[in-house]
Amino acid sequence: MTIVLPATSESLHQAADLLRRGRLVAFPTETVYGLGAAAENESAVRAMFAAKGRPADHPVIVHLPDAAQLSEWAAEIPPAARRLVAAFWPGPLTLILRRGPGVSDLVTGGLDTVGLRVPGHPVAQQLFRLFGGGIAAPSANRFGRVSPTTAQHVLDELDGRVELILDGGPCTIGLESTIVDLSRVEPAVLRPGGITAEQLFEVLGPFSSSPSSEAPRVSGSMESHYAPRARVELLSPDQIAARAAELVTQGNRVAVLLRNAEHHEAEPHSFPKSVVVISLPREDVELARTLYATLRRVDELECDVALSTLPIEQGLGIAIADRLRKAAGPRAGG
Ligand code: TXA
Ligand code: MG
Repeated sequence: MTIVLPATSESLHQAADLLRRGRLVAFPTETVYGLGAAAENESAVRAMFAAKGRPADHPVIVHLPDAAQLSEWAAEIPPAARRLVAAFWPGPLTLILRRGPGVSDLVTGGLDTVGLRVPGHPVAQQLFRLFGGGIAAPSANRFGRVSPTTAQHVLDELDGRVELILDGGPCTIGLESTIVDLSRVEPAVLRPGGITAEQLFEVLGPFSSSPSSEAPRVSGSMESHYAPRARVELLSPDQIAARAAELVTQGNRVAVLLRNAEHHEAEPHSFPKSVVVISLPREDVELARTLYATLRRVDELECDVALSTLPIEQGLGIAIADRLRKAAGPRAGG
């Protein structure tokens, strides 16, 4: 049985207590909802992997109440890490550092590094302070699916598989944290997110922000990630109407995701009647916040295919485009 409770002093204490007893609790962060397990409790971490249906060799981010606990998890804290922590924690940034001696292989997926994050969401902050230790938490969705940005999304994904969902309202950023690997000679962005490359460059100076080919196993870097059930196709605005018509002729139920500015160019009135046209916000910040809910809506409307354009790839647009490409990527085993 899964219960959903608004985050109150009472439910937060209950959640911290469940975590101490090795149970699973889902909680909001500013990026997406996380599925938390006590990071030092191996059976709790195993239960978390099982609940998600995630292969055990995938590393998971350890969430901390504050940066003071970094040294308990990382073998060393390079100057670049200190600068990023000072600039962006608490916030939507995960650091990959060489792991400390006590960190379980279950958490690191057997890698010699560990992912660490201090979220800024007040509910996460209060929960982590009450609990005290590290919380291993992937996004609170079934493996390979779209990350949840509301408590209802978590329930849709994990009903019966998580004890308690703390409802802290919709996530304000809506895409997963930026992951920066500082365990090598050069910093590398393993996953673009809420902290943009430009923001990182301001603190670290310029570096090549694309992940190297030797990048470690990041499940978010697997092609079929962040995918709704519907197939996603990425097109330019002027291609959309013709492709929609073609797909409808082939018997598909089609959704078209159009940013406000593109409505004119794509001439939505020229779509076949059965096409579901979903308007996306013009601003990247708003688009990021609502993207995953929109992909879920495409599934709720039982569409077979969703057609979308890509945003301009700068600032937050890089992370949005990354998630859309992954949603459109080839599916492993459907
Ligand atoms: O915003 C977020 O980061 C959310 C919230 C809940 O904090 N969490 C999240 O976790 O997105 P997850 O497990 O869905 O994605 C974390 C990514 C995975 O792709 C994982 O492979 C990668 O981080 N990761 C974790 N530890 C790593 C490590 N030591 N080296 C490389 N990648 C790592
Ligand atoms: Mg995830």
